[in-house]
Amino acid sequence: MVGSGAREHALAWKLARDGAEVFTAPGNAGTAAVGENLPVAADDFPGLLAAARKHACELTVVGPEAPLVGGIVDLFHREGMRVFGPTAAAARIEGSKAFCKQILRRGDVPTALHREFRSAAGAVEYLESRDDMPVVVKADGLAAGKGVVVCAGRAEAVEAVNALARDPQFAVAARTILIEERLDGPEVSVMAVTDGRTIVTLPPLQDHKAAHDGDVGPNTGGMGAYCPTPFVDAATSAEIEARILVPTVHAMRRSNVPFHGVLFAGLMLTPQGPKVLEFNARFGDPECETLMALLDSSLLEILDAAVDRRLESIAVPTWRPGAAVTVVMASEGYPGPVAKGRAIRGLDEAAAVDGVTVFHAATRAVAGPDGPVAVNDGGRTLAVTAVGDSLANAKRRAYSAVRCIRWDGAWCRKDIADKGIDRERIAAAATEPER
Ligand code: AMP
Ligand code: GLY
Repeated sequence: MVGSGAREHALAWKLARDGAEVFTAPGNAGTAAVGENLPVAADDFPGLLAAARKHACELTVVGPEAPLVGGIVDLFHREGMRVFGPTAAAARIEGSKAFCKQILRRGDVPTALHREFRSAAGAVEYLESRDDMPVVVKADGLAAGKGVVVCAGRAEAVEAVNALARDPQFAVAARTILIEERLDGPEVSVMAVTDGRTIVTLPPLQDHKAAHDGDVGPNTGGMGAYCPTPFVDAATSAEIEARILVPTVHAMRRSNVPFHGVLFAGLMLTPQGPKVLEFNARFGDPECETLMALLDSSLLEILDAAVDRRLESIAVPTWRPGAAVTVVMASEGYPGPVAKGRAIRGLDEAAAVDGVTVFHAATRAVAGPDGPVAVNDGGRTLAVTAVGDSLANAKRRAYSAVRCIRWDGAWCRKDIADKGIDRERIAAAATEPER
């Protein structure tokens, strides 16, 4: 397993339960408990290759986007190693928003209308030539979540374009600027495992990207997720598969960049139907933790089948009935810089709450007087996942566990899953017979 976040901990945890012996590079204090950590960074490709050989790894699973976009899968293929994930060329669906739009156009996949500009001046001229309306300004390349600015109107958009142009990263990461129609509606995440031909669609779920309760504050990597989401019924789910996921996989194959791995669609459910906001080339985080808690079937079997291009031959995966909720616990300062190295207490108590698994997102084990202690080592620090027979029950369990955990500066959103729970309540009230 390559990576060091809660997504990688959840994948390692599930693969270990499926019978695999797991090595995680570089991992965290959580992955050390489900296998062995290897002191190799996720961007040290020769180091990862040597480690996979040394430990006779039969399958390498790549968690984060950066090594995928950097070509780790291409290298492992060249060296005859089995690896789960897309090639660098295919990972461009996440790494380049302009490339993503090309694929969507080729597959006739619904998405926001957009224009592309090679210079800030061109983008500004365009904004000034048309009606003042809400738009979204996007930098083309990977920008760790900082490349997207949702704007109420022209003035904000012009400012966003100029800010991008001033950013030193722009020269390397984002030579192209996209101006996109602003869409409206609830956002959902839908992922599919694919071998380039066959897709296995995973249950839709909802992330919480804003830092604070009520969806306010700065954008983050995701502060919590829940599944299932009542915003996607069976008909919408079928529509997403048929009109978005399948045509995207086919468009990539026809473009000679077949996609193998996890295709992650960030969608907006607009009044005109589901539309693509973005594609990622990997599992979502915290979506992955939430799904792993619900997956009954063997993940190992699914990933093996995808790598061997025989996904059509495996049984449809089965999922635990009920719901799962993941609450991300972050360190003071996130999504900005955070102080690290603070001891985390109460992890065992939290893990003892019924239905709860605590996944580590950014922790490190350090020597303490009574053995190793986990300390925080980044912004999103823990992902506390609970399963339950309903969303409300899973939410209660997750927050009971969160209350057991303490470190200096720890915080989390208090309203994870509320959108789903409220929506279920409204739907139930609407179908109640009149008295
Ligand atoms: P992205 O990194 O492309 O997922 O964008 C980050 C966030 O910006 C998304 O989760 C949305 O909330 C928002 N966003 C992106 N594109 C649009 C759009 N066309 N209309 C409205 N909101 C958007
Ligand atoms: N949670 C959103 C993402 O992983 O990109």
